[in-house]
Amino acid sequence: MKKLLVISFLSLGIFCFGQPSHPGYVRLGDLAPDFTAETTLGTVKFYDWLGNSWGILFSHPSDFTPVCTTELGAVAKLDAAFAKMNVKVIALSVDSISSHRRWIGDINETQHTTVNFPIIADPKFEVANLYGMVHPNAMEKATVRSVFIIAPDKKVKLMLTYPASTGRNFDEILRVVESLQLTAKYSVATPANWKHGNDVIISPAVKDDDIPKKFPKGHTAIKPYLRTTPQPDLK
Ligand code: BEZ
Repeated sequence: MKKLLVISFLSLGIFCFGQPSHPGYVRLGDLAPDFTAETTLGTVKFYDWLGNSWGILFSHPSDFTPVCTTELGAVAKLDAAFAKMNVKVIALSVDSISSHRRWIGDINETQHTTVNFPIIADPKFEVANLYGMVHPNAMEKATVRSVFIIAPDKKVKLMLTYPASTGRNFDEILRVVESLQLTAKYSVATPANWKHGNDVIISPAVKDDDIPKKFPKGHTAIKPYLRTTPQPDLK
């Protein structure tokens, strides 16, 4: 009975503090699982390393493979854009640190860039399993192309899963970060195919009477539930 009570209490704690209920079943709004891992830039304690930044954790299947080489090159080229948006990026595959380090030489050479972000070596699938990055019916012994965007409060804000054969569009991931940051700061959402500089949608939670004060640039009410305003953080 006592044991049952302790277990119930622990489960309640896990539920209340927003941790994923099952490792590997991370969902939007969950706290991103914390971990310590070896990377090409030394040991990373994930939460400490993130600090108050936004985070992008992304996995790829394997070092020395063509699509992955172009992807890590593309991420390296966005270094300044990520820094400007207060985003830290960390990659992961199940290959070793020495393999990652040798491969970085190839990425820098072939993609004409410099990889400055850490790459996690996860040979025991510890982080991969924590985040559900292994999809055995697609790839048995490697991680698929997963992306997690994590907010400064450590909550998971986006999850993407791509197959090995399709390289991701990291400009799209940056676009999502901008949308998430706008939502975090203003009461807005972004419409289909929204791009930086386009009008945004005023949250349905904002009352009509409150719009002029909250959105001094003006607004358009296309329908009572569809109200747009210029992107609020631009001059
Ligand atoms: C690639 O990065 O090209 C790749 C990796 C694993 C399987 C298929 C393609």
